[in-house]
Amino acid sequence: MGPGDLKQALSWLPPEEAEELLVGFDTSDDAAVYKFDDTYALLQTVDFFPPVVDTPYLFGQISAANALSDVYAMGGKPLTALNLAAFPCSLGLDHLGEILKGGHDKVKESGAVVVGGHTIQDNEPKYGLSVTGIVRLDEVVTNSNVKAGDVLVFTKPLGMGILASALKRGIVTEDDIMPAIETAATLNRAAAEAMMEVGVNACTDITGFGLLGHLKEMIAVNGLKATIEAEKIPLWELAIEIAIKGIIPGGARDNQAYLGDSVVFKTKTAYPPEMLFDPQTSGGLLISVPEARLQALLAALETRGVGTRAVIGRIDEGAPGIIEVV
Ligand code: CO
Ligand code: CO
Ligand code: CO
Repeated sequence: MGPGDLKQALSWLPPEEAEELLVGFDTSDDAAVYKFDDTYALLQTVDFFPPVVDTPYLFGQISAANALSDVYAMGGKPLTALNLAAFPCSLGLDHLGEILKGGHDKVKESGAVVVGGHTIQDNEPKYGLSVTGIVRLDEVVTNSNVKAGDVLVFTKPLGMGILASALKRGIVTEDDIMPAIETAATLNRAAAEAMMEVGVNACTDITGFGLLGHLKEMIAVNGLKATIEAEKIPLWELAIEIAIKGIIPGGARDNQAYLGDSVVFKTKTAYPPEMLFDPQTSGGLLISVPEARLQALLAALETRGVGTRAVIGRIDEGAPGIIEVV
């Protein structure tokens, strides 16, 4: 669901007032943070969606990596996961089995365990996980604690939404987009460990609202301004070619419409600007790091084999909540 529709639906809910709830849904953060004792907090998050690729095993991997990512984005460690699956039995149970196996293998790689789940019959398959994690109270990384002077680092190329919709329409094959599929199936664990080692101000993972949609959530609370350097954004080359032909997912246009005047283009991008709003599945971490620790973060990412370490912009005082693309 797009950010505008979601906001409207959530407006029906009264604010939660539990003292132990340190982060709820009001700041659009990646996971809820619930104080457990004087040292630890629980992290809870859930994500599920229809297939983004054809091969069921790969879909399971991507969906699990995406769900686990919300725990990593908060600086936490995943502990347990519950499967959520909707499935038409006409597709064959081996198909469902492959999806679950893909998810299971990713959860195992994360060091967490699958402890159960729930499955319903549905015309369109859907799969995802509810993940519970743990984080030290003094190490919680929220999406909104950005500070003036921070630099923004991003850890996966953009364009997965465009590639997945082109795959659905038969414009590309799974083999054509395999590098993007493998990247989407890659856990954000290594990137998260690097950021925890260095110490950063804020982080979120880039998913359905696109790069600029999630960046907008980061600057909304502290009333700061973000600047994005258009030519520094890592993009899948094939996604650029497809977007140039005008093949853009509806979700990208919804995200762009929702952000409206909060995004100011000061330059003409060398690629279709809709790419900056493209909904990602299991996208990279967007990390807001004090400039003095930038080099340490880049080195820590490199040491852990995180291939994409793009310095894409910064946070400053200025027009509150505005994103300038330069
Ligand atoms: Co998230
Ligand atoms: Co999520
Ligand atoms: Co049940």
